[in-house]
Amino acid sequence: MEKNYRAELVGVLGDPVDGNPTGVMEEAGFAHAGLNWRYITVKVLPEDLDGAMAGVKAFNMRGVNLTMPHKINVLKYMDALSEAARVIGAVNTVVRRPDGTLFGENTDGKGFVQSLTDAGIALAGKSIALLGAGGAARSIGVECALAGAKLIRVINRSAARGRDLAGVINAHTAARAEYLPWNGTAAVPEGTDILINATCVGLHPRGDECPDIDFDGVKRGMVACDVVFNPAETVFLKRAAARGARCVDGLGMLVNQGCINYTLWTGEPAPRDVMYAKLKAEFI
Ligand SMILES: NC(=O)c1ccc[n+]([C@@H]2O[C@H](COP(=O)([O-])OP(=O)(O)OC[C@H]3O[C@@H](n4cnc5c(N)ncnc54)[C@H](OP(=O)(O)O)[C@@H]3O)[C@@H](O)[C@H]2O)c1
Repeated sequence: MEKNYRAELVGVLGDPVDGNPTGVMEEAGFAHAGLNWRYITVKVLPEDLDGAMAGVKAFNMRGVNLTMPHKINVLKYMDALSEAARVIGAVNTVVRRPDGTLFGENTDGKGFVQSLTDAGIALAGKSIALLGAGGAARSIGVECALAGAKLIRVINRSAARGRDLAGVINAHTAARAEYLPWNGTAAVPEGTDILINATCVGLHPRGDECPDIDFDGVKRGMVACDVVFNPAETVFLKRAAARGARCVDGLGMLVNQGCINYTLWTGEPAPRDVMYAKLKAEFI
């Protein structure tokens, strides 16, 4: 057979991206599967997204991830959107289809839901307290609702963002959502089954910080989840665990969305164990 030295390209576009470990995880998967694929981590400023998306096409890239600040602005370059991306209003994964058109998907919330499934936690009928209403929270809120959660209480400082997310969930899913203001110390609503920190509070280099909530409201057996993955063991999770909560960290969400993206691009199942081990090693 004739040799083929051409690598298939995927990657992430964003700013900042220097601390984004996704490429290490994806390339470990490609190498394990013997695929000549590369994942490039590219700094793209907001004003350069137009050129960058033209580059994605010009370089015949198989797809890209989008991270801050491009997840919403990239929508206008998409030829088609998944149902979830349309409802969430943001794209974190682009797939370049064989005919050259671009398909936008949002896999953050799917990765989160998978991390609960991996831990044996079902969403059907559950009451969720969701801290935050930013990009990660939108994706998680919508996907939890689509996965059968009964009630989603969105707790956020900015009322406009909080109300908007609750409205999106109510308009597009069978779940009931409501917005609760976050002024000072937030109470964990009575009857909460799953408490999720989807804010950026506690993220490196401010890993000693914790969302301002009343941990007395965290009951034994409640599930506490954090989207922050660096550090994986956040102050939020440590304090929830001390109250008897079952904890799910942000590394599972990160590796799961990476695996979903891997499959969207390559069409192959992702070697999750290899990718998870490689990712975890980055934080030791
Ligand atoms: N594990 C994963 O796979 C994964 C995937 C995606 C994102 N993430 C993580 O998710 C986190 C959020 O990312 P994002 O894209 O959603 O960011 P974002 O769109 O900027 O949203 C940030 C959210 O945090 C809230 N917030 C910020 N500081 C706060 C404070 N001191 N007290 C209370 N709320 C505060 C904001 O509230 P306001 O609206 O009031 O400003 C907003 O709801 C980041 O840590 C990111 O690394 C993890």
